[in-house]
Parts: sequence; C-alpha cells; structure tokens
Amino acid sequence: MAQALIFDSGVGGLSVAAEIRSRLPDLAMTYAADDAFRPYGNKSEAQLKARLPRLLWELSEAVRADIAVIACNTASTTALSEIRALLDIPVIGVVPAIKPAAAISKTKTIAVLGTPGTVQRQYVDGLIEDFASDCHVLLQGSVNLVDMAEAKLEGRPVDMKAVKAELAPLFSGRRGADIDAVVLACTHFPLLRDELKASVTQSVQWIDSGEAIAKRAEDVVSRLTTLKGKNYGPDTALLLAPAVSPERQKTFANFGFKRVVPLMPA
Ligand code: DGL
Repeated sequence: MAQALIFDSGVGGLSVAAEIRSRLPDLAMTYAADDAFRPYGNKSEAQLKARLPRLLWELSEAVRADIAVIACNTASTTALSEIRALLDIPVIGVVPAIKPAAAISKTKTIAVLGTPGTVQRQYVDGLIEDFASDCHVLLQGSVNLVDMAEAKLEGRPVDMKAVKAELAPLFSGRRGADIDAVVLACTHFPLLRDELKASVTQSVQWIDSGEAIAKRAEDVVSRLTTLKGKNYGPDTALLLAPAVSPERQKTFANFGFKRVVPLMPA
C-alpha cells in the first residue's frame, strides 16, 4: 500500500485523516502538524507561500510519501499550486465545500465559516463565482474556533458561550435567519461539529470536505498501487483508461507493444 503524508497546521487534519482511514484502512499515513507556525488563519499569503512549499517538500522526502494531502483549507487556498510545482508526487488539497453547499441550499443563502485568511482568498471568490453564483454567500472568519478545537482534542472543555459568540455575526446578522447550509471551511471545525450544531436554533446543514477528499485519495491511491505493485515487463503499453478496445490493442501491437493494460478501475 502507498504511503501518505497528511499535513495541517495542527490537529484539524485529523478530521480528514479519519475519513481517509475509514475508506482506506490499509493506507500508511504519516501526519505532520506545523505547531510552530499555527494558526495559519492569521498569517499573510506571503508568509504562507514562503513557508509551505519547501516545508512540504522536506516532509514528503523525509517520510518517502507517495501522495500528500494538504488537510488545511488555509494552506490549500493560498499555496496549493506552489506546493504542487515543487513536489513530484500527487498532492490533494482541501478547499471549502462551496459547491455541495450551494447545491443543497433551499434558501440559496449559505455561509462559509473558515479562517480569516481562507475567507479572504481569491481562490474562494473563484469557487463562489463558479458554483454559488445563485446564492447569497456570507463569509465568516474565526481563529478562536481553531484554538477551541485544539483545546478540545487535548481534553479541555469547550466554552459554549465562546462558540456561540463566534457564530453570532453570521446568524444574528442580515440574512442570518435564511442560512440553511454552512461550509466548514477549516479542517479544525468538523472537530467542533456537535458544539456548532448545539449553538444554533435554526435548521442548518454543516458541510465539510472530508468525505470528498477521502474519495479522491482512494482514486489516486488505487492508481498508484496499480502502477507500483506490478512488473509489467517489456513491450507493454499502459493506458490510463478503464478498458482497452480491440482497435487500440491493434494500434499498439503494430508498434511492437504486444501487451496493452488498462490502469483505471472499470
Ligand atoms: N486547519 C486549517 C484550515 O483548514 C487552519 C487552521 C489555522 O491554523 O488557522 O484552514
């Protein structure tokens, strides 16, 4: 099985790791938490761009990763392309689940609850433009919720008044009563799902990217495993396709590639 590097500023990526583990129980995962630089949510784009590509390269080399999951919305919406440019392994980024939230919303009023950095990023503006142009999108940034999730996972009690205070600007503000879907746009926030749910009275769907990322990881890993685990031998053509048609078989055979193997699951 492949070796995955799961990366976040802190424990937030554990919410993603848990989803990946339930889909790929045999995947070897190494987790890296950038405690020294957390929280990312109040750092500038320039600071994150200067730090992350090199750090991810070093970590992925150190653990000999076959695949890296940037289990952090702030890092992914800021530096995903720079990280991808430096690493020569597949890199999966976690970005806000705006598309499913917009699709599910009946009131066409959704909220994006992320770090202050994430909700300001152009990347998020692009997601809204592409997938939620028919919605009112309310943006709310919070660093305190990141700290609360960190504390909760260390076994400290969560102050419900403080959680409510973080949500108040969204739900007590204009259009707040119409919100029926909230994008948990920081991987720390699913770790506070119960507390967030308990803090609002209206009916709201809380949507994160964990499951979609696990599915994506499964696709990438299955492709890697197919590639790594076999000795295909000489004169073989590998097709990144689910099947090989007789015509394709013949074409490759005409050029001396006698065996033609489809690599993708049918
Ligand atoms: N867990 C991270 C995210 O998804 C960032 C938390 C932080 O360090 O501010 O955005």
